[in-house]
Amino acid sequence: MLKLISYIAIILIGTACSSDKDNYVPIENKKLEFTIPSNFPDPTYNIALNPPTEKGFELGKKLFYDGRLASDGVISCGFCHIQDFAFTHHTHIVSHGVGGALGTRNAQPLHNMAFMKEFTWDGAAMHLDLQPIIPITAEVEMNETFNSILKKLEEQPEYVKLFAEAFEDQKINSDNMLKAISQFMIMMISANTKYDKIERNEGSVFTVEEAAGFELFKTKCASCHKGTLFTDQSYRNNGLPIDPQYNDIGRKRVTGLTEDMQKFKVPSLRNIELTFPYMHDGRLKTLDDVLNHYSDGMVDSETLDPLFKNQNGTLGIPMTTEEKQQIIAFLKTLTDDDYVNDTRFSEF
Ligand code: HEC
Ligand code: HEC
Repeated sequence: MLKLISYIAIILIGTACSSDKDNYVPIENKKLEFTIPSNFPDPTYNIALNPPTEKGFELGKKLFYDGRLASDGVISCGFCHIQDFAFTHHTHIVSHGVGGALGTRNAQPLHNMAFMKEFTWDGAAMHLDLQPIIPITAEVEMNETFNSILKKLEEQPEYVKLFAEAFEDQKINSDNMLKAISQFMIMMISANTKYDKIERNEGSVFTVEEAAGFELFKTKCASCHKGTLFTDQSYRNNGLPIDPQYNDIGRKRVTGLTEDMQKFKVPSLRNIELTFPYMHDGRLKTLDDVLNHYSDGMVDSETLDPLFKNQNGTLGIPMTTEEKQQIIAFLKTLTDDDYVNDTRFSEF
């Protein structure tokens, strides 16, 4: 009898195991090709530590567009970062989150994140994997906790499956969640503008106006909006008067240093035609407004960038109306239609 029971037990265990094995389909989770455009520098993101895979990317994209990451079930990353506008929050001067709560800053575009050293307007996030913690936990953005999000995800069979396919440890945890979102974001490379095609000798040419604008840009703007990424990734004060409504002290918020008062990260100007309104608080509506700010709108302060202090005592970058239009024509060659229409990054 004992023999029989143990025999049955063995069969049961045996079948349990073998049926598991029979059902086990080796997960095909191919590595995605991370291609550095030939006119780009090396990425700052350590790809080897979190190489994007098909399933990791798919999971990251699903999370990016999922309102479950917010306490109200509505405000996803993609709510504020809209693809048509190079992943900015169109029409919103400062972003608005859960319950319509207003933030104090204009949503930044998302592109070429793998090449950036620090994130947000003041560099508060030192690593891309950590950046989403800010919007997820901010009261005025998604107002959620990781524990609560993970619980919601565990209840969704689709997520259980995707996490298991995407990561070796198969776990639904915050580490894997952040890694997946990063995998999605590091694949978001925007490098197919007219400017890029000209730089890579792919057969495009500037119009006369654009070419004149490019020359002006190189002498007047490129010291900060530098190189192929159009930012030297430094923090500078470009002469915007402080808005008492927000009292945003910029980089000083992160370093505590008086010398960093009102300094903000030099933004990349890629897709700038699409990412209006402009500046950290979206106070300037159009590119004309921006150019007028640089020529005539600057206010002096202790931390105003020395580049804007002219020898004759005036402030700003002297430009004629024609020169401004030429620079704007050049800036429009930085629009990447392929990127904003790339269905790999689209919600549907
Ligand atoms: C309520 C609107 C809102 C939501 C939701 C939101 N963001 Fe943002 N995002 C912003 C704003 C505003 C900034 C600029 C923040 C700052 O400078 O303090 C920003 C900045 C960023 C940056 C930095 C970009 C750079 O160039 O440094 C990244 C990356 C980012 N968001 C990714 C995400 C991800 C991923 C999510 C979802 C987990 C998300 N965001 C949700 C509004 C939002
Ligand atoms: C001394 C450095 C410096 C120079 C020179 C400079 N900029 Fe900027 N630029 C910045 C900084 C810093 C910001 C962000 C300021 C903020 O939001 O508070 C900025 C913001 C911008 C923005 C808004 C971007 C956005 O995403 O909202 C545009 C457009 C722009 N600059 C264009 C230009 C042009 C065109 C020139 C040349 C005529 C120029 N800049 C020269 C430092 C500079």
